Amino acid sequence: MARKYRIAVVPGDGIGKETVPEGLRVLDAAARKFGFELTLDHFDWSCETYKETGRMMPEDGLEQLRPADSIFLGAVGWPGVPDHISLWGLLIPMRRGFDQYVSLRPCRLMPGVRTPLAGRTPAEIDFYVVRENTEGEYSSVGGRMFEGTDREFVSQQSVLTRTGTDRILRYAFELAMTRPRKKVTSATKSNGITFTMPYWDERFAAMAAQYPEVKTDQFHIDILCAQFVQHPDWFDVVVGSNLFGDILSDLGPAVAGSIGIAPSANINPEKTYPSMFEPVHGSAPDIAGKGICNPIGQIWSGAMMLEHLGEKQAADAIVKAIETLLAEGGPRTRDLGGQASTVDLGKALAEAVAAG
Ligand code: NAI
Ligand code: MG
Repeated sequence: MARKYRIAVVPGDGIGKETVPEGLRVLDAAARKFGFELTLDHFDWSCETYKETGRMMPEDGLEQLRPADSIFLGAVGWPGVPDHISLWGLLIPMRRGFDQYVSLRPCRLMPGVRTPLAGRTPAEIDFYVVRENTEGEYSSVGGRMFEGTDREFVSQQSVLTRTGTDRILRYAFELAMTRPRKKVTSATKSNGITFTMPYWDERFAAMAAQYPEVKTDQFHIDILCAQFVQHPDWFDVVVGSNLFGDILSDLGPAVAGSIGIAPSANINPEKTYPSMFEPVHGSAPDIAGKGICNPIGQIWSGAMMLEHLGEKQAADAIVKAIETLLAEGGPRTRDLGGQASTVDLGKALAEAVAAG
């Protein structure tokens, strides 16, 4: 019997409505080629839903998504709805409600794509950023008091639990074990943040002791940002807390070139809940509706989804098709200096996957 997966599809706003169909086109080609079935459930939740109903998704939205094996998301956010409303109304509930504690972003310079770093080749920019996605600096512990008076103060606490710290570190080491270089870099700031970050360092050292084959190093977040720019070739798997990981997971894809091609995953590794796969970019209101956006970030996110579902061969075939298209002068969208449409790229990649 064919392997079957149930996918919740949420195109969201703006170019999400254009990239998701191309992502699905390529996923469909991969499913046919590699002999599995995808059952799609479509959810049209977006900022329009918010304007109509006052909510980004229905009250039981998470329950509706819960039966899915994975969620395939476009982008969320649109002018007229404040970003914190769209973010906290749809994306954050999924990440937290489904305990997607790993935010994973491959940072790979693809052949034929220009990096803003002079003189770097694809072999020199190929690493992952692993971000803790549920706790740390982005806790809800804190408050504001004596508002409007001289005594006014605000506070927001970082919360690192042993469970939360160890599971993200373990994920990073396990990921490194699957890679040829087997190296993990820790983002820290234990010189300035003197309780939580020394604790992070301690847990990192304890985890490293369990993986003698994995090489490790650590940098304070400030110099680490500089090293991403100066020495991207030093890195293989980079792990950070929620805030540091957030910073690195925008910087990483930026050094790897176009925002239009960068993919990301929000993963619940135990598969207790559905994981979510989405491009790094947002809804791009400036180019939405024109059919010119780059669908590669979405399509590559689909490959990450298939890898998570256990369809590694199909995932590799999609990434290979992307590499070949970019290396061999296939159609390109405007962000990569071409004239091709979103649909042209989707079709070219679907055909490449089908042809194998
Ligand atoms: P953005 O990523 O939507 O756009 C930034 C720039 O990159 C724009 O000039 C855009 O045209 C270009 N761009 C983005 N994706 C592209 C693609 N696939 N092909 C070609 N060019 C592309 O970021 P921005 O403008 O800061 O945010 C717009 C909206 O998206 C906001 O409401 C924001 O909150 C939301 N957003 C949502 C995210 C998500 O759903 N995870 C992530 C980032 C932003
Ligand atoms: Mg960010």
